[in-house]
Amino acid sequence: MQKILDAIQADELDAIGSLPVPEHYRGVTVHADEVEMFKGMASRDKDPRKSLHLDEVATPELGPGEALVAVMASAINYNTVWTSIFEPVSTFKFLERFGKLSPLSKRHDLPYHVVGSDLAGVVLRTGPGVHSWKPGDEVVAHCLNVELESPDGHNDTMLDNEQRIWGFETNFGGLAEIALVKANQLMPKPDHLTWEEAASPGLVNSTAYRQLVSTNGANMKQGDTVLIWGASGGLGSYATQFALNGGAIPICVVSSPEKAEICRKMGAELIIDRNAEGYKFWKDESTQDPKEWQRLGKKIRELTGGEDPDIVFEHPGRETFGASVYVARKGGTIVTCASTSGFMHEYDNRYLWMNLKRIIGSHFANYRESYEANRLIAKGLVHPTLSKTYALEDTGQAALDVHRNSHQGKVGVLCLAPEEGLGVRDHEMRAKHLDAINRFRGV
Ligand SMILES: NC(=O)c1ccc[n+]([C@@H]2O[C@H](COP(=O)([O-])OP(=O)(O)OC[C@H]3O[C@@H](n4cnc5c(N)ncnc54)[C@H](OP(=O)(O)O)[C@@H]3O)[C@@H](O)[C@H]2O)c1
Repeated sequence: MQKILDAIQADELDAIGSLPVPEHYRGVTVHADEVEMFKGMASRDKDPRKSLHLDEVATPELGPGEALVAVMASAINYNTVWTSIFEPVSTFKFLERFGKLSPLSKRHDLPYHVVGSDLAGVVLRTGPGVHSWKPGDEVVAHCLNVELESPDGHNDTMLDNEQRIWGFETNFGGLAEIALVKANQLMPKPDHLTWEEAASPGLVNSTAYRQLVSTNGANMKQGDTVLIWGASGGLGSYATQFALNGGAIPICVVSSPEKAEICRKMGAELIIDRNAEGYKFWKDESTQDPKEWQRLGKKIRELTGGEDPDIVFEHPGRETFGASVYVARKGGTIVTCASTSGFMHEYDNRYLWMNLKRIIGSHFANYRESYEANRLIAKGLVHPTLSKTYALEDTGQAALDVHRNSHQGKVGVLCLAPEEGLGVRDHEMRAKHLDAINRFRGV
């Protein structure tokens, strides 16, 4: 591993293909024999530091269409929080089901799960049938893993009936020194970014792009008002940038003055601090309070000069969904990709049908959408939202930060990279965007 790292740091990338691939590597895992460890505990008390381990694991055999990547840096996504607290189900169920598909997929069905759905690094080896990438290429990876053997996914690969999220529903993820991906997950690493910056947008940037911008999602247009929940969080920090870039008007919902300030730094003007406003959309576990929906709607109109949101960018789920459906304008769109606070949503359907609103489900992004989202990063039109970086050994703490919502934007993890700040090729472009790249740092 050291020889590979030395070659990367010495910029001897042509040599990578002739260096031996290590038989073992260090990866962040959960263990199948620990899935009951938090049984009976409340979600918020489940501690990822207890369930995430740093193990030496065997390097998987490389199959057709695949690539092994030396991972310089990765990032925490909420799916690693879900994996680490074994909610809503243990990810070993995904690996077991995947393992039944073919002898090749059987490799993934192990008593440990190497997690992580983002990476920036260098291609080590490519399998048979891979022609577009070669050892030594500097890459990032999106997390869509598809088989495409059925016709279903051929208009939109997210509709493949064997669609999986790499590092969540497959093994050998990015929070490790080596990762196994399909070659059609690879994209060029933006030259002006460090390894940890380049690794951080991937999953959330692609997801927010499909959800808000793509014709598969809300198909946002200039002038649209967009209510963005968690506007300084993983998804929201990209949704806010897409709204501003695309000539739309974001209304950013956050939970502290610090988070509000970050949104202002991104260029947003209309901001709601949900903590300061003290919204309580639920009176108790089973009863919502429509008066609180109205109070939110009134606040939005105050900010917009009387307009309601054309699009509501939803992901908190149960806690906010009733309000989201209520505040969307007549004919507006509520686009949802998640349910952090609970997946059994309740809303008043009269507001939906009488006002001709639409709810759109959105999940990750296809290769094309991910590529377009990464291109925006590479061109300096959208910027990473990295706030803090941890060592691979401290991934549990990094996941706890996200679980506790004590983070901003994205939390990075150094894998093979020995320190932050490495991997930049285009220093001139970096200098031009430095303030924007560092907006979320140290907040
Ligand atoms: N389907 C997909 O492809 C996909 C992709 C990415 C993520 N996701 C899911 O989307 C969710 C968010 O991911 P993320 O990366 O953006 O996470 P994140 O970095 O934790 O950001 C989410 C933000 O939402 C806000 N929030 C959390 N709970 C809330 C509540 N009850 N009411 C209102 N706002 C709340 C918080 O912001 P404030 O406290 O500032 O309001 C938080 O910072 C997760 O459940 C994740 O699994 C799905």
